[in-house]
Amino acid sequence: MGNHRLIATAQIYGNEQDVGRAIRDSGIKASELFVTTKIWTEFLNKNKLKASLEQSLEKLQLDQVDLTLVHWPLPDEVPVQSYVEALAEAKQAKLTRLMGVSNFTVSQTKAAIDAVGVQEIATNQVEVHPFLQNRTLVAFLKEQGIQITAYMPLAYGKVLSEPLIQQIAAGHQITAAQVALAWSLQQGFVVMPSSTKKVNLAQNLAALAVNLTSENMTQLTSLDRNERLANPDFSPAWD
Ligand SMILES: NC(=O)c1ccc[n+]([C@@H]2O[C@H](COP(=O)([O-])OP(=O)(O)OC[C@H]3O[C@@H](n4cnc5c(N)ncnc54)[C@H](OP(=O)(O)O)[C@@H]3O)[C@@H](O)[C@H]2O)c1
Repeated sequence: MGNHRLIATAQIYGNEQDVGRAIRDSGIKASELFVTTKIWTEFLNKNKLKASLEQSLEKLQLDQVDLTLVHWPLPDEVPVQSYVEALAEAKQAKLTRLMGVSNFTVSQTKAAIDAVGVQEIATNQVEVHPFLQNRTLVAFLKEQGIQITAYMPLAYGKVLSEPLIQQIAAGHQITAAQVALAWSLQQGFVVMPSSTKKVNLAQNLAALAVNLTSENMTQLTSLDRNERLANPDFSPAWD
């Protein structure tokens, strides 16, 4: 069986210090891991971003992270360009190998592309699962060649009790969680399921080997109901 090698942290999660210690204690080389962090909103400006990422690196005990994301876009009054450029400067200073965005709409992604160029935007990490298929944004990102990272791919566990998903799972002798993850993976998304249980982590990793039929994929399309779970009051005007 494979191993999980992508480690997702964020300044706001408060987990950089613990993850840094765990990486060091594991003895695994940083070059064999893919460590990401996300810049919180208060640091999204040219004066603060670089110093905040340096602090993250100190907590993570790393010289560089693999990927740094703008965690959430700022309100429309603040030009996207101002903070995406600040992140590009931190990347030029080699604090992060790659950069990207999260929770960006089509128009905010366009503004980011205009500011730094599409090749600089490694991903847009957004909520995507069978109940929120996000088709407008997904189509736009595919057209631009920007990798989609699907967060909350299990709709925080809600997909597990969905009858159609359970029925497809039974047909393949797999679990409902694996059906939901395979649905994302087969569309080319990177998936970010979380679990506190080793058995579920292993099961989720095994979804990489699942092959849903095109009929299954079509059936799952019908579950879209624009059900958004991560929707704080500072969210952008979603597509
Ligand atoms: N960029 C952003 O703004 C943003 C926002 C939200 C989330 N995220 C990212 O997305 C990740 C995942 O999101 P999430 O944790 O909110 O939602 P999720 O991955 O869709 O669902 C997690 C829930 O599903 C359960 N679960 C996981 N695997 C399972 C399995 N095989 N069988 C049964 N239950 C299973 C977990 O419980 P157990 O612990 O009991 O397994 C947990 O309750 C987060 O860790 C975070 O990195 C990013």
